[in-house]
Amino acid sequence: MKVLVLAVHPHMETSVVNKAWVEELKKHDQITVRELYKEYPDEAIDVVKEQQLCEQYDRIVFQFPLYWYSSPPLLKKWLDLVLTYGWAYGSEGKALHGKELMLAVSTGSEAEKYQAGGSNHYSLSELLKPFQATSNLIGMTYLPPYVFYGVKYANADDIAISAKRLTDHILNSFS
Ligand SMILES: Cc1cc2nc3c(=O)[nH]c(=O)nc-3n(C[C@H](O)[C@H](O)[C@H](O)COP(=O)(O)O)c2cc1C
Repeated sequence: MKVLVLAVHPHMETSVVNKAWVEELKKHDQITVRELYKEYPDEAIDVVKEQQLCEQYDRIVFQFPLYWYSSPPLLKKWLDLVLTYGWAYGSEGKALHGKELMLAVSTGSEAEKYQAGGSNHYSLSELLKPFQATSNLIGMTYLPPYVFYGVKYANADDIAISAKRLTDHILNSFS
C-alpha cells in the first residue's frame, strides 16, 4: 500500500505536533509526505500535478491542525481546485474511486471539550463531517481519523508517542 500524506500547516516552523508527525512519517518508505504550504508558498496549486500524484496512491491522508473547527485554508483551496468535475466526480469522474481517505488532526482543546455538554459542544466526528461527505461523493472510503487533542497541554513524550501512533494508524488501519 502506498500512502500520500498532505500536511497542511501555515506555520510548520513553529508547529509542535504537526512538525513532529511529518518528521516521523518521512522515515517510512511506504509514505510520501508533501507539505502543501511549502510546495505552494504563493498558494498557486498545480492542479494537474496534484491529480497525477493522487492517482498513484492507495490511501490519502490530510494532516492539519484544527483551525476554527476546520482545516487551514490551503486545504480547502486544494479541495476546491483539485477535485474537478470529470476527474473526481460526475459520470466520468472516477479517479479516486476505491481509494481511502484519512484525516490526521491536532487540536488546541482537550478531548472532553469536544462532546455534548463540553465547551466546544460537538465531537470531532461531527465537526469533520464535511470531509466525510466529500469522501463519500468522490467514491473514497473514509477511514477513522487520528485525532490528537489538547496540544497545548502535551509534553515532549506525548508528542513523540503520538507520532508513532499516527504512523501505526496510517499504516495499519483497514476499512
Ligand atoms: C487560527 C487558529 C484557529 C484555531 N482553531 C482551533 C479550534 O477551532 N479548535 C481547537 O481545538 N484548536 C484550535 N486552534 C489551536 C490549534 O489547533 C493548535 O494550536 C494546533 O493543533 C497545534 O498544532 P501544532 O503544534 O502543529 O501547531 C486554532 C489555532 C489557530 C492559530
